[in-house]
Amino acid sequence: MSILHLLLLLLSLLCTTLAVSITQHNGIKQIYPTKQNGRQWTFTQPKDPYFDPRQTIVKQSDGSYQNTEPQTRLEIHTKANDVMWRDVELTGYFKVNKKTGDKMPQLVLYARGGRHTTKGGGCDGTSIKGYYNFPGDLFFKKEVWHTGGYTARLSNKHYGQIINKWVGLKMVMYNTAPQNVKMELYVDRNATNNWVKEIEFEDHPGQVKGKEHKAECKNPITKRERAQDATIYYGGPIAAFRADDIIFQFKDLNVREICAGTCDQVQQKGCEGFPDSCHK
Ligand SMILES: *[C@@H]1O[C@H](CO)[C@@H](O)[C@H](O)[C@H]1NC(C)=O
Repeated sequence: MSILHLLLLLLSLLCTTLAVSITQHNGIKQIYPTKQNGRQWTFTQPKDPYFDPRQTIVKQSDGSYQNTEPQTRLEIHTKANDVMWRDVELTGYFKVNKKTGDKMPQLVLYARGGRHTTKGGGCDGTSIKGYYNFPGDLFFKKEVWHTGGYTARLSNKHYGQIINKWVGLKMVMYNTAPQNVKMELYVDRNATNNWVKEIEFEDHPGQVKGKEHKAECKNPITKRERAQDATIYYGGPIAAFRADDIIFQFKDLNVREICAGTCDQVQQKGCEGFPDSCHK
């Protein structure tokens, strides 16, 4: 073999390695690498033991799916022996076909909590959420409990709305210190796999308060009272793609445990600390 052939072989090996490390499902670029032995979920079809769309979703001729009810919660659950969703990159492509109301048409990607119901005082309903609303603002919110524990918008940016066209959204969250949480929201504006970080925010204890306090809600790790300005630095059993007041198509949904920030091994499993959110 000539030197040239050897170089070409090495180059192609290098390219293969790079391609593996920078793309996730369907060739979509990943922002952060997958955590070692990390958990990963990719949407393939509605009958999936981890997936609960909580409504009928209908396959379209292009292979994507469309919701049938404008209030949509596409949930990815955790079973007893699975690690909960903490340091994650949520990815999806969305095409909004119509608004069904003006109350709060929006797409929301979130994790770090359980069921968002009033059961158990709403204590399982924590979350870190990335929003893309209509008329086109991007922002985050932290939810310390459901429903009164929302913060105001964090890192609000007017981006402009995209309707009747595919757009990619990625919500990323990870810990940068034991109780500090970084949030990043990326948009692939033209659905060309060209991801741009549009907003970011780093939360630390004491920085932002939820609107109301609820003393009965405990921190799922320390079991002590959850402060009104606490960070949501722990994992939760449910990651979700949410929509309100819109009929939309979606495809390429993926949730991946990533190595970013502290990149420590997450020990929380199943529904520990989230008693009302267990998934059988
Ligand atoms: C999207 O497409 C428009 C029109 O072709 C182009 O000007 C713009 O740079 C593209 N933006 C991104 C983020 O790919």
